[in-house]
Amino acid sequence: MNKRSVRDLDVRGKRVLVRVDFNVPIKDGRVTDDTRIRRALPTIRYLLSEGARPILISHLGRPKGEPDPKYRMDPVARRLGELLDRQVLKLDEAVGPEVERALAEWDGQGVVLLENSRFYPGETKNDPEFARQLAALADLYVNDAFGAAHRAHATTVGVAELLPSAAGFLLEEELDYLDAVLESPERPFVAILGGAKVSDKLGVIKSLLERADTLLVGGAMCFTFFKARGYEVGSSLVEDDYVEQAKELMESAGERLVLPVDVVVAREMEEGAESRTVPADGIPEGWMGLDIGPKTVELFGRHISSARTIFWNGPMGVFEIEAFAKGTEGVAKAVAESGATSVVGGGDSVAAVRKLGLEDEMSHISTGGGASLEYVEGRELPGVAVLPEKEG
Ligand code: 3PG
Repeated sequence: MNKRSVRDLDVRGKRVLVRVDFNVPIKDGRVTDDTRIRRALPTIRYLLSEGARPILISHLGRPKGEPDPKYRMDPVARRLGELLDRQVLKLDEAVGPEVERALAEWDGQGVVLLENSRFYPGETKNDPEFARQLAALADLYVNDAFGAAHRAHATTVGVAELLPSAAGFLLEEELDYLDAVLESPERPFVAILGGAKVSDKLGVIKSLLERADTLLVGGAMCFTFFKARGYEVGSSLVEDDYVEQAKELMESAGERLVLPVDVVVAREMEEGAESRTVPADGIPEGWMGLDIGPKTVELFGRHISSARTIFWNGPMGVFEIEAFAKGTEGVAKAVAESGATSVVGGGDSVAAVRKLGLEDEMSHISTGGGASLEYVEGRELPGVAVLPEKEG
């Protein structure tokens, strides 16, 4: 990555506003998956060890530009305190006189965590006044929120334009892995895409077809391709408006685009529903495809085991339901056993990898779903673009 790094800043004794992505799931006041908090720890620990005063800010959920008790950062502050084993001074606002007073009185120990940035309408509008208020709290700015880097918001873009800025370690690591996969993959490079909709991933499919040797397509999006091939798809999810584009993609990709050869079907998408495995071109009327079948797991597995580089985004089926989880599990195991450089992006495929306890077998698990897809698509991430280039 050619952006200025937190290592390049002189942080000693400075207040450093750090944009983190602590948008984590919370249930009954507790963080249920603290991965994003853990992944931000190296930058926070580095700043502390260098004698800086980190002031952290994140969004949480999608509140509507005003305080919403459901989305307060307190559970995050508690979990961060446990993981960091340092004092976390949680403030109930993100800007304003109360925050300025608290910062003036802060003993400089541990870290400060500001309130949810999306409690302010200026955040998502990238309002210059909100950015100015944030910038007034600190001397320097570090962006370590890869998961939010595709948003042009005040905490990701506005404030970076006002303070000397740099990338944190997590942002660097994410971009380095994605760049390695996209720009100089060791071959064969096999990409695996799943998820529900072709429409969401059209740009990603095109970009991967330009770069990868093979693209394996699973998840509900394959039924749009099936329809384009003239198969009967029963009541499977199909995007009729995209059938024509799917046809064009298949024609231009030829054998490099690999579709399932069998699928697990059921009449309802429910736990306990009667299910069976049928050939890809034999989905009966009234039945819907909900997972890739065992022959497809084998076929995909052969491609995966010969790969030197793998990018995977999206589950192969409705993996939340046990009966339709085998395809995703099979792919996750094959990637884990491949020995290839493997990058997994996107919430659901990451959740599947975690459920199977295979996190340590992957080279890199991205903390950004939307951000990693936009990057793979070749789009510039505003939160990255705004950071200055490395000097010299
Ligand atoms: C994510 O969870 O993908 C990021 O935190 C971004 O959240 P958003 O989609 O609400 O901007």
